[in-house]
Amino acid sequence: MIHEPEAKNVVILMLKMGYTLSDVAQLADDLKKRQSKLPNPMTILRDPTLKKLVASIKDQPPSERAEFGRTVNELKIELTEQARFKEQRLDDKPPIDVSAPFDTGVSAANQPKLLPASEGSLHPVMQELGVMEDIFVRMGFRVERSRLIDDDYHMFESLNFPASHPARDDYDTFMTSEGLILPAHTSTMQHRVLKAQRAGLAHGQPIAAVIPGRVFRNEDLDATHEHTFHQVEGIYVDSGISLGDMMGTIQTFLEAYFNEPIEFKTQPFYFPFVEPGLEFLIKMPTSWQKPGSSQWLEIMGCGMIHPNVLKEAGVNPSKYSGFAWGMGVERLIMLKHGIEDIRYFMSGRLDFLKMFKGEV
Ligand code: PHE
Repeated sequence: MIHEPEAKNVVILMLKMGYTLSDVAQLADDLKKRQSKLPNPMTILRDPTLKKLVASIKDQPPSERAEFGRTVNELKIELTEQARFKEQRLDDKPPIDVSAPFDTGVSAANQPKLLPASEGSLHPVMQELGVMEDIFVRMGFRVERSRLIDDDYHMFESLNFPASHPARDDYDTFMTSEGLILPAHTSTMQHRVLKAQRAGLAHGQPIAAVIPGRVFRNEDLDATHEHTFHQVEGIYVDSGISLGDMMGTIQTFLEAYFNEPIEFKTQPFYFPFVEPGLEFLIKMPTSWQKPGSSQWLEIMGCGMIHPNVLKEAGVNPSKYSGFAWGMGVERLIMLKHGIEDIRYFMSGRLDFLKMFKGEV
């Protein structure tokens, strides 16, 4: 090594008492090379050359002192970081296979360390969905699951939105490059549920299902709008079903969920898959009402299932009728628990999550 001209220069430099800025780069190179060979790379920070370099800051001419000091300091930081990086690598575990972190082939010592389960809790939305599902099951509904990725047919076509129907714009959501859709509502499940349960109708068994699910929208975010939220879809079909049945069913659910009488109203709204279509609004608790703003909060869209939707799923609309709704889960939880901003749910804030710990 010593025969290389570069290395010779370094030795000469190391013998010098004072350093100039141009010396630093060469010394830095040498220190890094030597550090890479050390069994404990942190010890380079105690190297006499580095110490001398630091000591010589104060001897620099005032016009160069600041830059010299900064350069030396940067070198120290670089050496420390390099040492930390190497130390980490030394006790590095083999890479974790994220698709099977607890695979039996991975020894206990190499499995990812997690907090004990007692430290965690179900997410508030999951807890409350459990409460909602319980109520619906007691009312005679089956619980189905929606999908996180769906297709154009279930998102639009089967729901009476022909191609390029303007109402598609209300469901602006995310799409993969293959044309798959992150559903903007749980109504994507209507066609599947109608088809799967239609056989019972002839035997006097109504179609009665609720479908909780996660939905996605390209929204302007604010205290009551999120890009990702949850809905519970409800579907009920039998002979002779009317809007009155729908309102009674929704009211019964809400009163069980809030555990108190509620005041509600509906107003007409256009959804291609129901006729008539309605928005269902609930009167907010007085403590929630802000001066000047409406005391009503829209919590779901609903209506009588459109004959075209029934027909498409093989249910005869001249024999059977039914209703459907899609309720906003976070909005219901917000009303029940006095949460003023929907964005808390996705924030991952521990103080918020802990408020729900142990509830159910
Ligand atoms: N899917 C509608 C929405 O999310 C709500 C809805 C469901 C309306 C079922 C009518 C019937 O906007």
